[in-house]
Amino acid sequence: MIPLADRFGRVATDLRVSLTDRCNLRCSYCMPAEGLDWLPDDQTLSDDEVKRLIGIAVRRLGVTEVRFTGGEPLVRRGLVDIVRHTHDLGVETSLTTNALGLARTAPALRAAGLDRINVSLDTVRPETFLEITRRDRLADVIAGLEAARDAGLSPLKINAVLLRGVNDDQAGELLQWAMDRAYDLRFIEQMPLDAQHRWNRDTMVTADEIFDRLKADFMLTPHAVPRGSDPAELFDVNGGPATVGIIASVTRPFCGDCDRVRLTADGQIRNCLFAREESDLRSALRAGATDEELARRWVVAMAGKRAGHGIDDPTFLQPDRPMSAIGG
Ligand code: GTP
Ligand code: 5AD
Ligand code: SF4
Repeated sequence: MIPLADRFGRVATDLRVSLTDRCNLRCSYCMPAEGLDWLPDDQTLSDDEVKRLIGIAVRRLGVTEVRFTGGEPLVRRGLVDIVRHTHDLGVETSLTTNALGLARTAPALRAAGLDRINVSLDTVRPETFLEITRRDRLADVIAGLEAARDAGLSPLKINAVLLRGVNDDQAGELLQWAMDRAYDLRFIEQMPLDAQHRWNRDTMVTADEIFDRLKADFMLTPHAVPRGSDPAELFDVNGGPATVGIIASVTRPFCGDCDRVRLTADGQIRNCLFAREESDLRSALRAGATDEELARRWVVAMAGKRAGHGIDDPTFLQPDRPMSAIGG
C-alpha cells in the first residue's frame, strides 16, 4: 500500500467521488437558472470505470472512506450498484445529496450498504426554498430526509448555506426545526465556487456572524469530542445532546488537517477543492494503464497538493470548475 501523502505531511484517506455534474435544482449560489454545459456522456466515467478507480484507491492507496457527490448523485442511474461495490470493499460509504428522489431510493441505498447521508437544505420555508433553488420542491426534500431516517441512515446531517438578505435571518428557525427532528445541522460559509463568479468576501455570511445570531436564541458550548479532520466546528446546543456545526471554510480554514482527495465525474483527480491543476486518470485508464500505473499517477497528483486554498491571498484565482462539477 502506498499512502496518498503530500509535501506537508498530510495523508488523504477520504475520497470524494463526483458521479455527475448534473443537478435537478438550480441553487443561486451554485449555478445559473439555465443550468450549465453538462459533461458529455463519453467524457463521463462509466460505472465500471468508477468502480475500478475506487477499488484502486481502497486496495492500493489506503482510502478508508468514500463519499459520493455531484452535481446531484441521485440522478446517476448506477448509484446503488456503485454504492454496493464500494461497501463491499469494506470502507465507510456516504452520500451528499439534495434529497430529491431520496424518498424512493433510501431503502435500496441502505440495503446496498450506504452508511450515512448529508442533505443540503438552506431553509424550511417553501417560498425561500423556491427563491434559492428556483424549484418548488421543499416537500420532496423533507420526505427524502424522513425516508432516509426510516431506512436507518444515521446520523443524518443537514448542510445549510446562509445568503445575506435571503435566509440569513432564518438560522435559528432552521436549527430549531432540525433539533426537533434530531437532524445534525451544519452551517457552511459560502465559498468562491459558484459558476457565475458572484461570490463576494465582503457580503458573505461569516462563521462569527452565524455564531452570534444563534447565540441570541440558544446556549452554545464547544463540543467535547476532538474535531480531527472534520470541516465542522461543533457546539452543543442548550447543553446537548443536540449539536450544531459551523464550517468556516473561508474565515478559519482547516486545510492543515485535510485528509481529502477528489475524483471528478470525468475522471480527473483533484488534490484540493481549489486545485488549479488536475490529473487525468480517465485518459490513462482508457489508454490501457494497469492498476499499478493508475495508482502511481494518483500518488504523483497528491504530491502537488498546496498547503491551503489561499482564498485570502491577493493572487487567489477561483478554480475553473464550479462546485457542481467538483462535488463540494
Ligand atoms: P462528513 O464526513 O459528514 O463530515 O462530511 P463533510 O462535511 O466532509 O462533507 P459534505 O459533503 O457534507 O460537505 C460539507 C461542506 O464542507 C461543503 O460545503 C463542502 O464543500 C465542505 N468541504 C468538504 N470538504 C472540504 C475541504 O476539503 N475543503 C473545504 N474548504 N471545504 C470542504
Ligand atoms: N460554498 C459553500 N458550500 C456550498 N455548497 C454548494 N455551493 C457552495 C458554496 N459556494 C454546499 C451545498 C452542499 C455541499 C456539498 O456544498 O449546499 O451541501
Ligand atoms: Fe445542485 Fe448542490 Fe449546486 Fe444546489 S448546490 S444546484 S443541490 S449541485
